Amino acid sequence: MEGFEVLVLWAVVYCVSVSSVPLNEYKTESQLKHVNITIDTKYSSYITLSDVTADELGQYEGGDMIGHIPEMHNGLVDEKFRWQDGVVPYKIVGNFSLEQLTKIQQAFHTYHNVTDGCIRFVGRTDQHDYIQVKSNPSGCGSNVGRQGGIQVVNLQPPGCLYTPGTIQHEFLHALGFHHEQTRWDRDEYVTISWDYMKHGSEGNFAIHEEDKATGFGFPYDYQSVMHYGSNAFSVNHTADTITPVDPNAKIGQRKGLSDIDIAKLKKMYKCDTK
Ligand SMILES: *[C@@H]1O[C@H](CO)[C@@H](O)[C@H](O)[C@H]1NC(C)=O
Ligand SMILES: *[C@@H]1O[C@H](CO)[C@@H](O)[C@H](O)[C@H]1NC(C)=O
Ligand SMILES: *[C@@H]1O[C@H](CO)[C@@H](O)[C@H](O)[C@H]1NC(C)=O
Ligand SMILES: *[C@@H]1O[C@H](CO)[C@@H](O)[C@H](O)[C@H]1NC(C)=O
Repeated sequence: MEGFEVLVLWAVVYCVSVSSVPLNEYKTESQLKHVNITIDTKYSSYITLSDVTADELGQYEGGDMIGHIPEMHNGLVDEKFRWQDGVVPYKIVGNFSLEQLTKIQQAFHTYHNVTDGCIRFVGRTDQHDYIQVKSNPSGCGSNVGRQGGIQVVNLQPPGCLYTPGTIQHEFLHALGFHHEQTRWDRDEYVTISWDYMKHGSEGNFAIHEEDKATGFGFPYDYQSVMHYGSNAFSVNHTADTITPVDPNAKIGQRKGLSDIDIAKLKKMYKCDTK
C-alpha cells in the first residue's frame, strides 16, 4: 500500500512539475496541497549551485537560530523541547517555487527514512504546536527545539534551498540541536580565531554546559551538518575563524546529516526503544 501511495503521489507531483505551472509563481493553498507529499528518489539528486553554508549568513542569533536560549547547546537535555512521539506538524506558508517545495519535502522524507519513521513531519491539521515554514528575506533560521505554539523555520529562497544539508540543518535545530562547535569539549577539536571574527559575532562561538546540552555519548563530529564552516563570521570571508585540530578534518559540509547526527537524533527521540 505504501509503495503504491508513493507511486501515485509521485505521479501527481511529476504531472504538476511538468505542467505549465511556472516554477516561481506564488503557490495558492490548493496548489500547495498537491505538493504536500513524500517524494522518492527520482528527486534526490540536486545540482549543488553553491557551497555557501547559507545558515551562517542569517540575521539570527547564532547565524540562524531564532530566539535566545542561553546555555543549551547541541542536543537539548530538557525533554520539554522535544516533539511528542517524534511527530513534527508543519505548514508551509512561504512563497516557494515547486522545485523548492520539492526539496523541503525531500528533507522531511530524509528524516523519516534515516530514523525508520521515528521522526515524522506531518502536515498540520489542528495541532497546537507546529512549524511554519516561511520564506522571509532574513536568511535561514529556526528556534532550537519545540517551543510550544507556532514556531518558524525560515528558508530564504534561493540561498537556503540550494543544498539538502542546509534545509536539514534548520530542521535539526527545530528538532532540538544547536551547532556542533558549541559543544563543551570543542576546544579539544577546533581552534577558534577570535581576531578574525566580524565584530559583534563573538556570541556565535560561545561554549555551553554539558548538563544543558548533550552529545548523547557520541564524539565530537567534524562531519556534522550542524558544524560551522571554517570561515563562519570571518571579517573578510577568507581568514579562518575555526580551524580543526585534526589537519585532515573538513568542516561545514551541507550535503546532509552525518552518521553521528542521525545517531544523536535517534538517541534524543529514543528511537531504538520504540
Ligand atoms: C513569490 O516569489 C516569486 C519569485 O521570487 C516572485 O516573483 C513573486 O512576486 C512572489 N510572490 C509573492 C506573493 O510574494
Ligand atoms: C534511505 O536511507 C538509506 C540508509 O538508511 C539510504 O541508503 C537511502 O539512500 C535513503 N533513501 C532516501 C530516498 O533518502
Ligand atoms: C499532508 O497534509 C495532510 C493534511 O493537510 C496531512 O494529513 C498529511 O499527513 C500531510 N502529508 C505529508 C506527507 O506531510
Ligand atoms: C583576510 O584577513 C586576514 C586576517 O586579517 C588577512 O591575513 C588576509 O590577507 C585577508 N584576506 C583578504 C582577501 O583580504
